[in-house]
Amino acid sequence: MKRFRKLIAMVLCLTLVGAFFTACTKSGNGSDATPAQEATPTEVLTPTPTEVPATPTPTPNPLDDMTLKDLYADDFKIGIAVQTGSLGSKPVMDEISSQFNSMTLENASKPDALLRMKESKEGLPGTYTNPVVDVDGLASYMKFAKENGIAVRFHTLLWHSQTPAWLFTEDYTVGGAKVSREVMLKRMESYIRQVMTLMEEKYPGQVYCYDVVNEAIDPGHGDPDGLRTASLWYEVVGRDFMNYAFEYARKYAPEGVDLYYNDYNCYMKTSQIINVLKPILEAGNIDGIGMQSHMTASQNVDRTIVGPAAEFTAAGFKVQLTELDIGIEKETETNLELQAIKYKVLFKKVREAKQSGKIDLDCITVWGLYDSASWRADEYPLMYKMKAGKLVRKRAWYGAMQDPSIKAIEI
Ligand code: GLA
Repeated sequence: MKRFRKLIAMVLCLTLVGAFFTACTKSGNGSDATPAQEATPTEVLTPTPTEVPATPTPTPNPLDDMTLKDLYADDFKIGIAVQTGSLGSKPVMDEISSQFNSMTLENASKPDALLRMKESKEGLPGTYTNPVVDVDGLASYMKFAKENGIAVRFHTLLWHSQTPAWLFTEDYTVGGAKVSREVMLKRMESYIRQVMTLMEEKYPGQVYCYDVVNEAIDPGHGDPDGLRTASLWYEVVGRDFMNYAFEYARKYAPEGVDLYYNDYNCYMKTSQIINVLKPILEAGNIDGIGMQSHMTASQNVDRTIVGPAAEFTAAGFKVQLTELDIGIEKETETNLELQAIKYKVLFKKVREAKQSGKIDLDCITVWGLYDSASWRADEYPLMYKMKAGKLVRKRAWYGAMQDPSIKAIEI
């Protein structure tokens, strides 16, 4: 019995020693290891770097102490559209003054905000070709801009929208008979002269460019050059109203202040815009084209922005992106990341195109600070959000800041 137990113990020992040697040879030291067996399941599943999903922004992120205007200081200005009344909030003012060095007033400097109907009527006949204009409502914005070293881009002198209909009628009466082309040209010149001279008198040196005409090209409505026909300027003055607008603007603009034509979806009407503006450029009365750039996260930056901007530059115009916002359908993590990627790609490609001399661009303006105050609030298109009363930077801001954790390829 004893002998039998000894025998079993020996057999067990030999089996264990054999198993040990087999394990040693399979771990790669032995010459008989088969290469096909080397890849373990975990090695096969290891993701390649491009497949790693974007990780949430770690806190603190070193970018948090940097600013957009500093990051792009050698390339172009970073602008912000300031919403009426928004300058009351300290966090908003602090963020605007630290991040941006160009400012547009979203509504406060449009014709319906500056023209005074009552005073224009009361002043007749003296005011017949000189409608009353008042820029005092801009004082607090201009003071804020001045105190914070922010240059102002004026938006907008002539537009078919947000311009009172009474400006075009006899006696400044709503629904009254339209005045003649000659009278309207005098009113146009007076309006441009008054705005430009008042701005310079009251806020000297602060405005660095004017949108002289907004959205006057809308092909497909019967005009042979694609001009917007549904516009009182087009109707009352005629097809050449822009030539006069830019001529007057040049006449009264302070030396060195740039004059812009501004429009949306420029990629869809690039050649029409160039054709219409070419004579104005040849007359020396325009400097640049403002591309509004209201986008969605699925639009391609080269096709919708860099391509047309390069065409405008080649035709002799300066360019600005004047109303950038990038909408998403729903506020999901995935969509916010796609939006951040689009902001990153846009700023990156525009900077590269500027540095290579392909586009002559001197400002990118974002159309508002935070989502809930945007005109496209239901598309969450901006770089910030207001969360429980706090201004929060979205992934979109980090995208614009070229955060390495955000991909730089368009999807
Ligand atoms: C256009 C105008 C802007 C503004 C937006 C909507 O793009 O140019 O001034 O009114 O529409 O907010």
